[in-house]
Amino acid sequence: MGLVVTVSLGACDSKNQSSASSQAPPSTPLVDTASPLAVGSAPVVTSAASTTIMSNAGSGTGAAGAGHQQGAALYAKYCQLCHAPDGTGYAADNAPSLVSDSFLRGASDEFIAAAIRLGRPDTAMAAYGTVRGGPMNDAQIRQLVSYLRSLGPAHGSLDEKAVTGNPQRGLGIYVAQCQSCHGADNERGKAPSLHNREFLAAATPGFLRHAIIEGRPPTPMQPFAGRLTPGQIEDVVAYLRSLAPPPTTRESLAAQVPDDLPLVINPQGKHPSFTLRDKRFVSAAQVKRALAEKRRLVLVDARSPADWLLFHIPGSVPIPYYDTKRLSQIPKDDTWVVAYCACPHHASGEVVDALRRQGYKNTAVLDEGILYWKDHGFPLDGRDVMRKGKPAKP
Ligand code: HEC
Ligand code: HEC
Repeated sequence: MGLVVTVSLGACDSKNQSSASSQAPPSTPLVDTASPLAVGSAPVVTSAASTTIMSNAGSGTGAAGAGHQQGAALYAKYCQLCHAPDGTGYAADNAPSLVSDSFLRGASDEFIAAAIRLGRPDTAMAAYGTVRGGPMNDAQIRQLVSYLRSLGPAHGSLDEKAVTGNPQRGLGIYVAQCQSCHGADNERGKAPSLHNREFLAAATPGFLRHAIIEGRPPTPMQPFAGRLTPGQIEDVVAYLRSLAPPPTTRESLAAQVPDDLPLVINPQGKHPSFTLRDKRFVSAAQVKRALAEKRRLVLVDARSPADWLLFHIPGSVPIPYYDTKRLSQIPKDDTWVVAYCACPHHASGEVVDALRRQGYKNTAVLDEGILYWKDHGFPLDGRDVMRKGKPAKP
């Protein structure tokens, strides 16, 4: 079977192509088909966050009411940039719809809260929970969930019977039917990554069955009922569940961004001379060289600080697109300010627009974004880098 599939990183434009565009599917050990594979139903939070399980799980709009106005405000501030003002998704980065009937019926409140709290590492979906260094506490996340819930149906009952499929056969079906959109192993396609560790930790067999059988109309995720046999669907579910990390190995990543990070890198250095594309975009190669030559500059990480904690360009400061107050502390002289995000242009573009409105002269967006930077082995700092010697795979 041909395994060569071209997958882009799913960024908002064609610039951000993945470095390894063809890759064999993962070689994760496949589980014994007879085992019950129920791990996905475990709560997704680890010890440090043991108080964070949603209290109104599965209650749909019932327990909602109260929080959902604050939730709407939080949504506008943090989420619409990518998931669109009405929640239908695809405003940037192929962020999925959060309001399709099928999604809201399939996703429990815990599932949605976990995605917000813990993010989807190595994608544009950052962690927003304070437990990962993000801006939102559990009460706020609950308000956001109840707001999303108010836009569609309650959580339905899912078929959580033990998985009986054959993961090996499931892999073959995945490669033939799913990989063109969902990507392989460490590669994000246009559709959400099904190999992502936080996704797999949260997605129960019932959640997966529901998404595959019903699809996510009106998005490109068409129902597979009738296109695959029930046995084949069970095989794919078994394959996906076989990739899930055991809950016990998942570490608590509580952390905070230091509040005394200096803004200017190499304050005594000379200014770099950057050549911008379209008067706006500076290439990763130029920024890498400027750092190597110890030039004076400011690097703004426009993502959620939780993602900065995982990995970032050395010397960068997290000033996220939704809270740009600290920008005004940047010296307003000839110092270059380069903003970057995963996207690669949306969140960073907001920061550069804010700087230009405030009269900063030398500003640019890192053209290829941080995921390109990471894929190409350019210098990084952060927890994933410390832990593994290189950034973690999803
Ligand atoms: C910078 C773009 C961006 C922003 C901002 C963003 N998201 Fe996401 N979100 C994504 C992407 C991309 C994915 C899919 C990730 C993947 O590939 O698995 C995603 C996935 C999700 C999912 C999982 C959906 C599913 O079907 O599994 C939820 C829930 C979610 N986002 C909610 C939010 C909320 C709520 C906010 C605001 C707090 C937010 N997102 C902010 C880009 C973003
Ligand atoms: C034509 C492209 C395409 C194909 C082929 C496809 N999908 Fe999808 N899939 C998507 C998109 C796009 C989404 C996100 C839809 C949304 O906005 O909610 C998705 C969502 C999903 C989700 C939910 C993910 C989440 O984060 O909630 C699952 C599970 C899924 N697909 C499984 C599969 C499986 C298994 C196959 C193969 C049998 C498959 N898909 C084939 C495009 C595709």
